[in-house]
Amino acid sequence: AAPRDLAGRHVVVSAGGTREAIDPVRFIGNRSSGLQGYALARTAVARGARVTLVAANVALPDPAGADIAAVTSAEEMRAAVLEAAAGADAVVMAAAVADFRPAGYRGSKIKKTDGAEPEPIRLVKNPDILAELGRERRPGQVVVGFAAETDDVLANGRAKLARKGSDLLVVNQVGEDLTFGRPDNAAVILGADGSRTEVPRGAKEALADAVWDLVAERLPAPPRD
Ligand code: C5P
Repeated sequence: AAPRDLAGRHVVVSAGGTREAIDPVRFIGNRSSGLQGYALARTAVARGARVTLVAANVALPDPAGADIAAVTSAEEMRAAVLEAAAGADAVVMAAAVADFRPAGYRGSKIKKTDGAEPEPIRLVKNPDILAELGRERRPGQVVVGFAAETDDVLANGRAKLARKGSDLLVVNQVGEDLTFGRPDNAAVILGADGSRTEVPRGAKEALADAVWDLVAERLPAPPRD
């Protein structure tokens, strides 16, 4: 049986990938399936936590026992995550949040015109939710990010951990069918305290449990009543 080490804790998990609308029928998206975030939600429920799962465009069965907020874009995800995080003990940002969105939403479908090249789509930066959580966290709150890297995985991971102000960063190598849509994953979890935990390739549940082990160690002792 799972340890009940998250009993009495409220955790927020984001999952999936945001979609940034171009026009009513098109969007810029990414390859995140939501499997890792859903595994995090399921394992947290099993360990006794109250779980708020903020899911962006995930086509998976709802994990039993989690409260689910469905969102589409990065801006919607930001609003849902910040609202849930206000009272949470830990926030794990497993979602692939689009770094950019189209600068202007076209209210009607973009048409092709004979002989003319299409208009370029200008992009603007999205808010960085993880960085905001790192800056504005409540005392004792544990903030965890994910980093999908293709090159210089560890050096980029350390730099990202510092830049985002997270307590933990789960760094996985992506590309060439290594992670997206697969039931298994492998990662190195970097801690702001200098720790480094290697999680060998295995089920996404196993990586999720490794994340919760590290989160549980970092949570302040619960108030006694
Ligand atoms: O900077 P990068 O996109 O590689 O960072 C990945 C981490 O930051 C993930 O935990 C992701 O959920 C989070 N993120 C975010 N808001 C963004 C971009 C990424 O919270 N706009």
